[in-house]
Amino acid sequence: MKIEFFKHSLQKEDVQNAVDVLNSIFLTTGPVSSSFEEKFSNFTGLEHTVSLSSCTAALHLSLLALDVGPGDEVITTPMTFIATATSILHAGAVPVFVDVEDDTGLIDVSKIEKVITKRTKAIMPVHLYGAMVDMKALRQIAQKHNLKIIEDCAHCIEGERDGIKPGQLGDVACYSFYATKNLTCGEGGAASTNNADVAKKIRTLRLHGMSKDAAARYHGRYKHWDMISLGWKYNLDDIHAALLVGQISRLPDNLRMRKKISTCYDEGFSGIKNLTIPSRPGESAHHLYTIWVDKDRRDEILTLFHEHDIGVAVNYRAIHQLTFFQKEFSFLPDDYPIAYDIGKRTITLPLYPGLTKNEIDYVIDVTKSII
Ligand SMILES: Cc1ncc(COP(=O)(O)O)c(C=O)c1O
Repeated sequence: MKIEFFKHSLQKEDVQNAVDVLNSIFLTTGPVSSSFEEKFSNFTGLEHTVSLSSCTAALHLSLLALDVGPGDEVITTPMTFIATATSILHAGAVPVFVDVEDDTGLIDVSKIEKVITKRTKAIMPVHLYGAMVDMKALRQIAQKHNLKIIEDCAHCIEGERDGIKPGQLGDVACYSFYATKNLTCGEGGAASTNNADVAKKIRTLRLHGMSKDAAARYHGRYKHWDMISLGWKYNLDDIHAALLVGQISRLPDNLRMRKKISTCYDEGFSGIKNLTIPSRPGESAHHLYTIWVDKDRRDEILTLFHEHDIGVAVNYRAIHQLTFFQKEFSFLPDDYPIAYDIGKRTITLPLYPGLTKNEIDYVIDVTKSII
């Protein structure tokens, strides 16, 4: 049996939506992107959504729209994908890491106040694997110190904690529609917010700082446009947006299936020595199912999974120990010991709605025999 790490669940109608765009005259950002933005806002409950080419773009432009720049510090976690921290650097600011909780891998909110300085401008929490950071506690800290919150929701569209959903207590929520995400079009992202001014800024910044986008310029007749700020080329075209529109209504069903698979894994793995399942506070979006194993055996175990034709990944090795961050900031492993330790122990197993019962049982059996 061969089990892929991830299989998307695009349906015929999603493909047809993209074909319809290809058969139309308008391929770039236009009516379909707008329709996606509206539907996605309805789903998240956040008033404004700006569709973008990636979550990295969303994080970058959110920082700029909130006036974060050179001389500023942004607090975030070392247990994340590099884009969280590189977006801060792209904005000209400095990432300041805070270690994570040893049971969830989420940023340890109780340690945040210790690193706040006069330069701190924002906090960028990451809802890791689908489980949300304690946003109520984080909001209190942000309010007390007058800081912005930009939520990295690449793993968490559908989660909830203490009655709070992603984006509800933050200033901007940033989403990824990358190839393996719960909602995917290959490459794509979005920034959602209840702040109309911030949304407007992000909208302008996503397209060169131009006063009119292609849809506004396209009326069969040339119209002058202006450049009002220095922007980027981060818009999402209608071909990609077309793949997303129909998936939104399937998110709740897909989440139920993801949750069921996670529960099967939880039950299959209970009581195994040398295997830890991270805690999932609140209602997780069940984006990734990650196990923590003995650090001295992790790489050997990865190889054994591959030998059994099971696709696995590592999310993540703590980013403060990647060459660039080590060189640039002289970080040592023990600067963030919990993230470092988790990064040495973590393995992500296949988790997607199309996994069959047989496949889940096979993953459980192989995991048990290997560990
Ligand atoms: C936690 C996290 N943040 C940010 C990103 C960046 O997303 P994108 O590839 O859409 O730029 C990812 C992508 O994998 C991610 O997992």
